[in-house]
Amino acid sequence: MCGIVGIVQKQETKIGKAIIEALTKLEYRGYDSVGIASIYDNKVIITKDQGKISEVSERIDVNSIKGKIAIGHTRWATHGPPSKENAHPHVDCSGDISVIHNGIIENFQRLKEELLEQGHVFQSETDTEIIPHMIEQQVKKEGLALKEAIIQVVKRLEGTFAICVVSNLNPDRIYCAKRDSPLVIGINTDRMFCASDIPAFLNKTRKVVLLHDDEFVTLTSEGYDIINFNTLEKVIRKPHIVSWKPEMAQKAGFPHFMLKEIHEQPHSLADYVRIKQPSLTRIAEKIYNAEKIFLLAAGTAHYSTLTGEHLIRRFAKKSSSSIIASEFESVNSLIDEDTIILPVSQSGETMDTIMAIKSAKEQGASILSAVNVIGSTITRHSDEVLYLYAGPEIGVAATKTYTAQTIAMWDIGLELGKLSGEINNSEYSEARKLYQQIPNIVKQTIVRNEARANHVASWFAKKNSSFYLGRGLNLQTANEGALKMKEIAYIHSESYPAGESKHGPIALVEEDYPVVFITPQDYTHNRIIGNIMEMKARGAAATVVIEEGDREIEELSKWKFEIPQGYSEMFSTIPYVIPLQLLAYYTAVRRNLSPDMPRNLSKSVTVL
Ligand code: F6R
Repeated sequence: MCGIVGIVQKQETKIGKAIIEALTKLEYRGYDSVGIASIYDNKVIITKDQGKISEVSERIDVNSIKGKIAIGHTRWATHGPPSKENAHPHVDCSGDISVIHNGIIENFQRLKEELLEQGHVFQSETDTEIIPHMIEQQVKKEGLALKEAIIQVVKRLEGTFAICVVSNLNPDRIYCAKRDSPLVIGINTDRMFCASDIPAFLNKTRKVVLLHDDEFVTLTSEGYDIINFNTLEKVIRKPHIVSWKPEMAQKAGFPHFMLKEIHEQPHSLADYVRIKQPSLTRIAEKIYNAEKIFLLAAGTAHYSTLTGEHLIRRFAKKSSSSIIASEFESVNSLIDEDTIILPVSQSGETMDTIMAIKSAKEQGASILSAVNVIGSTITRHSDEVLYLYAGPEIGVAATKTYTAQTIAMWDIGLELGKLSGEINNSEYSEARKLYQQIPNIVKQTIVRNEARANHVASWFAKKNSSFYLGRGLNLQTANEGALKMKEIAYIHSESYPAGESKHGPIALVEEDYPVVFITPQDYTHNRIIGNIMEMKARGAAATVVIEEGDREIEELSKWKFEIPQGYSEMFSTIPYVIPLQLLAYYTAVRRNLSPDMPRNLSKSVTVL
């Protein structure tokens, strides 16, 4: 995720200030670097640097950026770490064509090789930089006009994009195009905006045009002109007036970032699946050949490493241990050059995890990490990194980054299975096909369970204690569900292996006591039925997460959540956690709590 904005106006003003103001409203979409391209005196002027908007605007003289036209970008790194060079806008060889981009160009490697052969010189590691060079090629070598050149270029891009282009070749307009990344137009009497999201200009105008996929826009101070870039047919779309309050708009109309981020999971998982990371094979090979493997994390991330531990056992036929970062001391004496440490972290800044990594490194261990924030401390201490590509997570409780961490464990697991021969080539291809379907299953799961979660929450909100029980891999789902309920709804919730619950915890159960069971249709199914019966016999009220149509378990439950049929049992932990995220969220809301900012917690724990 990145934030993009463009302004074209009738009067010449200090446009840099207006761009920074708009970008500040989009900082929730990315904040590792900032850049502006303006046109002044018929030249493209680029101002950019690494850092948050507040930091960069102290370093540059925003007021000196003048003109009638400018585009700006706030970045969330995907290709290439945060740096001045990788910050947008990017330009062609001559510096005449400048581009900002939100999305991921999947075929950029191939296109970049082509451009290198044609003699283009690159200044960044980004996928975006190919775009101005491709446009330059079309204009200067093929003789196309700028607009036609951009249209030819976007047709060749595979992946997701929202782009804005400014150039001194046509200095009075911004050209934009989009596919699968958001782009909206804002209309004011004396200036026009384009942006990733409405909050960018909501304090200036409420008149908005939403763009659809494969649309191309020419934006001038007089108006906008939309065409479909495949058919070149004109699109007539009238503006509409948005009624959102600015704060609500930043959350895309959702009342809280946490709910927005739950809903973003089909997209964040699709991004993870879409991006082929060369580090994956190297990580899998190193794990496969390692003598000792320790997975390392804190909180939610720890539950994803427990999935990783399970998958390493299953696919590499190796034992590994998942260690809570703050307890790393207990295995310190085992670490040497033959050890692999696999830290998993959203922020890449968790101090417990960093200290454990440093200590392991001093003893010669290799660090192979899975991290969301590119350029974070953990990535800098790592020999290899698998990025999670979940985008910024603002809600304190991890949701989309947990599913991203879990899918990353599966990604590694499947490679290990192929390496060890535990799965043959056709089983591997079949598993990869099912893996591709995860984002869609998650989407259906959200649709199917959201209203129900809100309803069950009205009952759950009156409770002060609960159990979450699961078996096998879905013990991690129970762990994560209980943690979510605890941290945002402040209801004491404990997770246990379902079979273990009878060895003590069951003593707490009384009439109508909430027990949540994770019950997929796998080898754990029949055993869990026994555990439900035991709990019910003591008065427990069972909330079950079942596969759609599982009447046997449904009949034993007070409340049910359903996962649509067609998901692979193999990847069940990803869809099965979704209703539990929704349940925790709605329970917090029913208790009048703030799910985005739970008490005593912070997003990134940088103390020991
Ligand atoms: C829970 C949560 C925390 C984090 C933990 C590790 O919802 O967000 O438990 O998972 O503090 O943080 P990262 O993943 O940034 O290392």
